Amino acid sequence: MLDVQTAPAAPTVVRRLDYRPPDWFVPEISLDFSLDSLKTTVRAKLEVRRNGNHDRPLRLDGDGLTPESVMVDGTLLDSSGWRLEDGDLIIELPGASHVVETEVRIAPEMNTQLMGLYASGGLLCTQCEAEGFRRITFFPDRPDVLSRYSVRMEADKTRYPVLLANGDPVGAGELPDGRQWAEWHDPFPKPSYLFALVAGDLVANRDSFTTMSGRKVDLGIWVRKADLPKTDHAMTALKLSMAWDENSYGREYDLDVFNIVAVADFNFGAMENKGLNIFNSRYILADPDTATDADYDAIAGVVAHEYFHNWSGNRVTCRDWFQLSLKEGFTVFRDQSFTADQGSAAVKRIEDVRVLRAAQFPEDAGPLAHPVRPDSYMEISNFYTATVYNKGAELIRMMAVMLGGERFRKGSDLYFERHDGEAATCEDFVRAMEDGGEIDLAQFRRWYEQAGTPRVRATLSHNGTTAKLHLEQNVPPTPGQPDKLPMVLPLRVRLFGENSAAPLGDERLVLLDAAEQVVTFENVVERPVLSINRGFSTPVVVETDRSAADLAFLSAHDDDPFARYEAMQQLMVDTLVASVAGGKLDHGPVIEAVRNTLTDPALDKAFVAEAVLLPSESFVGDHMLVVDPDAIHRAREALRHDLGLMLEREWRAAYAATQANRFEYSPEAKGARRLRTVALGYIAASGADDASELAFTQFEGADNMTDRQGALTTLANGESTLRAKALEAFYERYRDNALVLDKWFTTQAISTRDDTVDQVIALSKHADFTLANPNRVRALAGAFTVNQRAFHAADGRGYAYLADTIIALDKLNPQTAAKLVPPLGRWRRFGEDRAARMRAQLQRIVDTPGLSRDVFEQASKSLA
Ligand code: PHE
Ligand code: ZN
Repeated sequence: MLDVQTAPAAPTVVRRLDYRPPDWFVPEISLDFSLDSLKTTVRAKLEVRRNGNHDRPLRLDGDGLTPESVMVDGTLLDSSGWRLEDGDLIIELPGASHVVETEVRIAPEMNTQLMGLYASGGLLCTQCEAEGFRRITFFPDRPDVLSRYSVRMEADKTRYPVLLANGDPVGAGELPDGRQWAEWHDPFPKPSYLFALVAGDLVANRDSFTTMSGRKVDLGIWVRKADLPKTDHAMTALKLSMAWDENSYGREYDLDVFNIVAVADFNFGAMENKGLNIFNSRYILADPDTATDADYDAIAGVVAHEYFHNWSGNRVTCRDWFQLSLKEGFTVFRDQSFTADQGSAAVKRIEDVRVLRAAQFPEDAGPLAHPVRPDSYMEISNFYTATVYNKGAELIRMMAVMLGGERFRKGSDLYFERHDGEAATCEDFVRAMEDGGEIDLAQFRRWYEQAGTPRVRATLSHNGTTAKLHLEQNVPPTPGQPDKLPMVLPLRVRLFGENSAAPLGDERLVLLDAAEQVVTFENVVERPVLSINRGFSTPVVVETDRSAADLAFLSAHDDDPFARYEAMQQLMVDTLVASVAGGKLDHGPVIEAVRNTLTDPALDKAFVAEAVLLPSESFVGDHMLVVDPDAIHRAREALRHDLGLMLEREWRAAYAATQANRFEYSPEAKGARRLRTVALGYIAASGADDASELAFTQFEGADNMTDRQGALTTLANGESTLRAKALEAFYERYRDNALVLDKWFTTQAISTRDDTVDQVIALSKHADFTLANPNRVRALAGAFTVNQRAFHAADGRGYAYLADTIIALDKLNPQTAAKLVPPLGRWRRFGEDRAARMRAQLQRIVDTPGLSRDVFEQASKSLA
């Protein structure tokens, strides 16, 4: 089976407003798989029921399938009884209900797209969201067709001793010729995108969870035998998630079995298939020697995310793919809340906002901007975006902020109760919040409709004992949406007294819902300093005229940890933007603010580590009219150098104070490791002679990956001869561990050194580099695009490298290739020379014959 898609001359655009209910329902489906890596036979038996009074034929989606046979009600059709249209199977049917049977052959081993049934590291597995099921069998492959699934599999017993599918196992047995069979049944009707099966030589970490009503659920995390010792952390996270969803949302698990399988080749992070989650192994496998603290956190977050989908996604699913944020925004909000409850809520919020600003704000400001509920698409895979996921989560968070915990819970209870077993819409969710939480969300709905990050201008004036906060909002134009209406922006606001360093009154929740608004504060007896958008209560850009002194003041005295962090970031950004613009170079306020934070014994180390980090080069670029990557890099490195030098004693003290004898996985130990790596980075930035020795000693002596990779990063940024030595040692030690080798590639791709572009191009020819594994591609090419200065090398060879990668990868895996396009689409933000070079590469991509719909959509829209 060849997997070359060709871009249609005029690619079909699917529009939200064209939604029509399905012509036919499929209440039941039985699937029978005869599994083989090169020749799998799939027999499907569908009970189909006409929906309403119409005479339209049955249309079953198919992608690259040819029927071996088609039967209706037990009778074999000859080739006049059916036809293929754009790959879909069309059958004219006379009555209201029929039984339709088809047989197809597929070759999992040839499936490089990793959509449908494919092979990964010797095992067979499926990925069906969004439209992969049609690559397995003919079916109405849309989320509003819900069916009860019975699945029978047979396979060679030696190669595939374990056979798993959704729901509960109902039977298994031996067959002649060394084959065996197993049957699974899922009692919950589900859309086809939640179908899954896995066959392979796997072992399980088994455990159990007793639900709130006292039912025992068998849990299994399935991996290759050698990986079994790395599954405990994921199992712990799973049990915590199950308990958390009961306590926080009243949601109990509903099957007797819950299985997770880890696979090495996977387009995304993980997939919430009913009762059988399939994971990218990087979000399951962890031990101290191979996984960083960040990996541990990501594992717990993704395990929780996929588990929470059982209610927000599976029990209540999406009517159509335009409603994707219904399940993804809500589920991201749920996993963020879970993580916040497990550790430091403040640090978690800082991390989530950093991700939002790094990934979603640029998307919202560029040619691919789209509403949280998009209006059209060519290829739905391109809409698994930071906007749908992360901005979508911010929308849910705003509703939670406006409603408060108790009313929000009433709203979510009502949502689950009303729509259990249904395919619902974003509108259904908002209405449940309105009815359950007793609030009017009419204007709030604009958040689902209007793309673009709102900007708020806030000015505080003080007169006598009255302070007035003048607020203005403006939503910038985005493709297809030139004019915007005012949004509802819930802003948590508090004033602090400059002299007393104490709050002036309580925090207020200001709902900014007009273009302009004035908020009055009485009894303001001293000069107030404004703390606004505390906790990042609304996902906007706030512009204020607060001075460096005010920001430094807030970074020391605000009682909201996020606002404290934010004040420090703003101070740093202002300083860097001024120095890029050639303004007066005064690093003093930043240095003093960092010193205060670093030496404040009351602060937790994880928070300190976040607060003292300089904003990324791209975040600084986001604050400039025209991004000058080299000037930003120089300015930032200069500030890093000064911070390192002026606070050298403090960094060394922090470094010494965070030394541990033995690895421990606790919030305190994690915070210490984080601060330790940050301190090491600053010691190196100071130019201290012993910095690389220090890093190399840490590298060699580390008993965990966090310290080892932290040291390697510092060395990889530097010029010392120990750099090559460390990279070599790391490679030799981990060359057989794909997930760790990914780190080796990434560390070099994000290096701040001058020669990084050349290193990346050389690494793309390394024997261990492959386009066949999405993790490896992301580790090198994906990470490289985040390295602003290197990617934007003035002569454009970073762009050419990326375009080469996209074009080559598109032939194997269009979905993953398309995800690499957006960095080239930012051309408007750069000077003429760079913009022209970026456009030329986009044009070269668009002009490539046989381009996939995925890449065509992203590249052509990026040129517009
Ligand atoms: N639905 C998955 C999640 O967010 C993501 C995903 C999408 C995985 C498409 C695979 C394919 O949990
Ligand atoms: Zn999800």
